[in-house]
Amino acid sequence: MILAIESSCDDSALALMDRRGRLLFHERIEQGEAHAPHGGVVPELASRLHARNLPRLLESIADRLEAVEAIAVTHEPGLTVALAEGVVMAQAVALALKKPLIGVHHLRGHLYSLFLEREPVFPFSALIVSGGHTMIVESTAWDQHQEVATTLDDSMGEAFDKVAKMLDLGYPGGPAIEQLAKQGDADRFDLPLPLRQKSRLAFSYSGLKNSMRLLIEKQGRVDAQSRADLAAAFQKKAIAHLIQKSETYLKTARPKRLGVVGGVSANAALRTALEALCRRYGCELLLAPLAYCSDNAAMIARAGLEDLRHGRFIQPAEITIRSRSAIY
Ligand code: KG4
Ligand code: ZN
Repeated sequence: MILAIESSCDDSALALMDRRGRLLFHERIEQGEAHAPHGGVVPELASRLHARNLPRLLESIADRLEAVEAIAVTHEPGLTVALAEGVVMAQAVALALKKPLIGVHHLRGHLYSLFLEREPVFPFSALIVSGGHTMIVESTAWDQHQEVATTLDDSMGEAFDKVAKMLDLGYPGGPAIEQLAKQGDADRFDLPLPLRQKSRLAFSYSGLKNSMRLLIEKQGRVDAQSRADLAAAFQKKAIAHLIQKSETYLKTARPKRLGVVGGVSANAALRTALEALCRRYGCELLLAPLAYCSDNAAMIARAGLEDLRHGRFIQPAEITIRSRSAIY
């Protein structure tokens, strides 16, 4: 079996998966509460908490390590000081067990969250919607992933987090906005649809975020109903933008399958909108299990399993940590 470690942002997670792709263990320690007072992730704090939490997780599976054949770890992209904690632990375990190391690209990990309950199918296209990325990717083989569209500024998750901060909803903002939006009237406030006139296949969330800022300022004191209406209006436009650009893509590329991964893909309104869109274009919608949309180690194990099957390893001394790196 494979041991997987994820620590690219504010979640420390470990997983064990057998060679057939069955998840044998998964545990995640989230840091949301620690970062909440700061309204976003503080890298040094994340790093310190990973240094404390990763060994705790490892200790809980100490008696199962003998059966581990390879160690997969997220090494890019992400917060370098956070990634380093997982990578150092992976190097130590690989050297101690004398087992090979596998470096997993975080976004490739997210793509493989689609295949936790089924074998991978190629080709497929996917929307990656997370706190760090908003893109369309085409996957043609286990190790072939091409970016075809990305955001010009903020990511979708980042916009949810920043708008949540403006509405005093805390961090992470996505789930808080989704909950509040359920009680709101999405049509009370009118917000602009990003890049509406442009045929260009790209995303943009900073304009929508700034419109929200102005709208909130204009309200002065925001009462509970207005707060819910604002959250609903924002969520509606944020999703409408993703759907409009996804439709542009589906019309031209006509993929057989469209996956959606990353933290924002847990949003029920987004899932419903994508289901309707895919139905219209006769495209199969691939979804990750809800519990594995946000950062986790199960998806890193699943991606690493492909490397194990194909014999792609990396020397412990040669693994690199990078904050930014294109998907491949
Ligand atoms: O994939 P992820 O856990 O981490 C990154 O790789 O970035 O994504 C985290 C992002 C955060 O911005 C969070 O607010 C957002 O996903 N998110 C959501 C929801 N759950 C998490 N956004 C909208 N609706 C949700 N239900
Ligand atoms: Zn992620």
